[in-house]
Amino acid sequence: MTATLLSKKQNRLPRILEHASGDKRFKILEAHMKKHQFKHDALIEVLHKAQELFGFLEDDLLLFIAYKLKLPASRVYGVATFYHFFTLKPKGRHTCVVCMGTACYVKGADKVLAAIEEHAGIKAGETTPDNQVSLLTARCIGACGIAPAVVYDGTVTPRQTPETALEQLKGWTGHGH
Ligand code: FES
Repeated sequence: MTATLLSKKQNRLPRILEHASGDKRFKILEAHMKKHQFKHDALIEVLHKAQELFGFLEDDLLLFIAYKLKLPASRVYGVATFYHFFTLKPKGRHTCVVCMGTACYVKGADKVLAAIEEHAGIKAGETTPDNQVSLLTARCIGACGIAPAVVYDGTVTPRQTPETALEQLKGWTGHGH
């Protein structure tokens, strides 16, 4: 993403903030920033937390962080791209983030993940060769009460089973095998 593109994206801020107000993951992230008193030098720490919560760092999330920490978006984007341990938005048309936090894990998130991996023929962190689906994992997305939770294209979905997960995937890929 170029700097120009990034500045254009800043116009999306009101929409991002509105979306964030209804998504618990943003609230948890904001509480984390607050814990660090919104200090600029907590940026890497905040990006780590964001990746744990969301599975990857997409543009809207980076803009949200920049806004809350009062940093230029280019700086936040620069740091996120510089370090190899950060994952930017994967190239799949659809994203599937399986929460592997403790609450989800004990309720069978590992089985859900295994079913998706087998169906899609990829491992967590990979994208299908046709670029349809990127599979990622997160560590507690703040929805333990509805465990195991999976985030399909940004929508937190409760109580997943291998069956419901495969149904969702088949809906995306339009075929039943
Ligand atoms: S462990 Fe999955 S939402 Fe908390």
